[in-house]
Amino acid sequence: MSTTSTSDTVSPVAPNSAEARDIAYHLHAYTNARKHEEIGPLVIDRGEGIHVFDLAGNRYIEAMAGLWSVAVGFGDKRLAAAAARQFEKLPYYHDFTHKSHGPVIDLAEKLVSMAPVPMSKAFFTNSGSEANDTVLKMIWYRSNALGQPERKKVIARERAYHGVTIASASLTGLPNNHKSFDLPLAGILRTGSPHFWRDALPGETEEAFATRRADELEQLILAEGPETVAAFFAEPVMGAGGVIVPPATYWDKIQAVLRKYDILFVADEVICGFGRTGRMFGTETFNLKPDVMVVSKALSSSYLPISAIIANERFVAPIMDQSNTIGTFGHGFTAGGHPVAAAVALENVRIIEEEGLVANAVASGRRLLEGLHALAGHPLVGEVRGVGLIAAVELVTDKAAKKALEPAGTLGGLVNAGLQANGVISRAMGDAIAFCPPLIITESEVDDLLSRFALTLDTVAKQI
Ligand SMILES: Cc1ncc(COP(=O)(O)O)c(C=O)c1O
Repeated sequence: MSTTSTSDTVSPVAPNSAEARDIAYHLHAYTNARKHEEIGPLVIDRGEGIHVFDLAGNRYIEAMAGLWSVAVGFGDKRLAAAAARQFEKLPYYHDFTHKSHGPVIDLAEKLVSMAPVPMSKAFFTNSGSEANDTVLKMIWYRSNALGQPERKKVIARERAYHGVTIASASLTGLPNNHKSFDLPLAGILRTGSPHFWRDALPGETEEAFATRRADELEQLILAEGPETVAAFFAEPVMGAGGVIVPPATYWDKIQAVLRKYDILFVADEVICGFGRTGRMFGTETFNLKPDVMVVSKALSSSYLPISAIIANERFVAPIMDQSNTIGTFGHGFTAGGHPVAAAVALENVRIIEEEGLVANAVASGRRLLEGLHALAGHPLVGEVRGVGLIAAVELVTDKAAKKALEPAGTLGGLVNAGLQANGVISRAMGDAIAFCPPLIITESEVDDLLSRFALTLDTVAKQI
């Protein structure tokens, strides 16, 4: 019989309930579809601030801000009003063939002017995946425009997450995004992740590890032929790959290699952008000099789908010239820069600025990381990592060997389910539990989250 998993006790799904209809008709993203037939969905009904409520009225701290995205929290009235105003004025228009509209112009100007490095133009898409696919197409188009048709390879990292469309899934460095999909595409090269705790050699210092990663990148470029490598894609802090904060000196050393071989740097700011790392962009937190920044998620707090590619003159000028040669830039999406999504994004960015949400992320993030570090002595805690208001706890059962239960992901799954039973929605990435709450979270709400996490760890430790 079908059951529902809204708590750690599994209860039957009532016929014709929302849960039963979900099982009957809805194929889910990132879900084991057969297991879903057994356990059913947790149906979220409404949200308010940092909380969401299920159909039964149970309240949860949304400790992942949805999918790393709801910066301003749930139920923001200003965003609802901005959407309603734009719906009434102009519910749809596009930017093909020299057309434009107010919200897309305002948002493009805002993004270019607020970028922490000199940028020239913004191009609009609807998701992080579409944006990264578009960047890859732009890179190929640009190399052809420059008369360098051999310069088409791009480098991404192990455990990177750049999306799920064919090109962006190829950039993603996680096995489940490739298995059975016949991916990755050719021409996507892979280099190591910056996870010191997991990947350092015995006795290696953080500095030596960063140097080794930069050397490996350089060796890869040399082996492939520098004239064939166009770009390097990276998240300032890896998100879905496990919230990996690179060690000090890593970014300086990686960027020096990119500069040496004239390789474009694409900063995937889809999670980091708009305050998450304690500065407006991860680019600022880590002193990056990208040619392209990809933003989405907290751009609109995901109230509506929108993403943007913010690119510098070096990147866009050849593309613009090529569109002149060919007669058009033959790329664009029906809903790219949608006026309602753009109006909501603009209002959302204003809220982040006016309400000081980046400063709040710093204060609440400090509290979160202090609280998580205070749990470092717990038998199940292997590593605590994070920056700004994004963190993860790597769970282990053997601290010295850095090992958890077999198969991998079992312990993470138990703790994640335990958190849900204790009123917290989080995310297990293997055996790491992520915390990425809305930027509006207060310090006392962080304390509530921490005490529920500590309780869950104790319960699971007794259980296993
Ligand atoms: C860093 C990063 N890039 C790209 C994406 C893909 O975005 P989307 O799910 O909107 O396609 C994500 C999604 O989590 C992401 O975290």
